[in-house]
Amino acid sequence: MGYPPEVYELAESELEKRRMLSEQELEKCREILYARSPRAEEIERTIAKTSVRAAKAVLNGADVKAELTELKKNNLALKKELDEIISGFGFPKDYLELRHKCGDCKDRGDIDGKMCSCMKTLLRQISYDRLNRSSPLSLSDFDSFSLDYYSKTSESGSSVSPYTRMNGVYAYCKKYARTFSSESKSLLFQGAPGLGKTHLSLAIARELIERGFGVIYVSAPELLSRMARENVDFNYSENISTGQYLSDCDLLILDDLGTEYSTKFTVAALYNIINNRVILSKPTIISTNLSVKELEEKYDKRIVSRIIGTMDRVLFSGADIRQIKKKLKNQSKTNDQKE
Ligand SMILES: Nc1ncnc2c1ncn2[C@@H]1O[C@H](COP(=O)(O)OP(=O)(O)O)[C@@H](O)[C@H]1O
Ligand SMILES: [Mg+2]
Ligand SMILES: [Zn+2]
Repeated sequence: MGYPPEVYELAESELEKRRMLSEQELEKCREILYARSPRAEEIERTIAKTSVRAAKAVLNGADVKAELTELKKNNLALKKELDEIISGFGFPKDYLELRHKCGDCKDRGDIDGKMCSCMKTLLRQISYDRLNRSSPLSLSDFDSFSLDYYSKTSESGSSVSPYTRMNGVYAYCKKYARTFSSESKSLLFQGAPGLGKTHLSLAIARELIERGFGVIYVSAPELLSRMARENVDFNYSENISTGQYLSDCDLLILDDLGTEYSTKFTVAALYNIINNRVILSKPTIISTNLSVKELEEKYDKRIVSRIIGTMDRVLFSGADIRQIKKKLKNQSKTNDQKE
């Protein structure tokens, strides 16, 4: 599954917390019961001691079998008495047992070495939370995407209006998310800043994460500077490194390609990331403000042809929605002041 190592670590520590919590709850139940019935405490203590006595019997070389049978008989009688005390107070039968959040794996996260479904859910939730935290658009989903921001008048040199084009883009992205599979195509989102590229890619991410896919969303400048810092080496792909999870995830979203400061390292790193995904035929969504010509100028032509050759190009058009929203906000402010 394609999650970064930190996500697994967070999930493990969450499970540990759950296990501790059920221990604490059990401790509380004990206190309540003991307060009401000192005899219950006595019984539990005695039962705990029996295991020590059994071990001693073995060590002393006494008639072990007879001794153990005796102990077992005593234990059963004590357990029965304890059960009666518990039910006498109207407590449930399992009152002195650990109550786990997930009964299947007892909050261990796996069953016989296979990942439990609670762990899968947890991983999904954590990566979803992280996605929202690391992106500025925590509310980017398909519902909050409005077509009202796109003009119905065609721009010069174009036969379709931004509204018509974006209507198509929106429908396309929704369908992409709905029908996503490992065989889905890679997409290249192209267009000027503020047209909704990040918004729609996050909307796709959100929907896929909810359905249990491993999605990584990263901005290219952030990722590349991190990789340069960590000195990620792609030749050692067995390492659980940044490079590994970038190749492993079901969908990689590489946002804002072209805004990073480019060096020999970043160009090579980018080529490796994209190339690995192409080889594994895993889908990637790349968004960029640059045109094909600008991309070719900034990167090796090889990379660009690799990008264009395997991806569906999705062209965004319209006016900067960030600016439109700002203007609307200012307008409502001045209106408020006038009133
Ligand atoms: N169609 C839309 N409806 C509502 N808000 C939008 C829409 N498109 C973009 N926005 C908002 O405008 C801002 C800029 O959009 P963004 O997706 O970051 O643009 P881009 O990535 O193309 O530069 C964000 O706050 C985003 O949520
Ligand atoms: Mg963006
Ligand atoms: Zn479980």
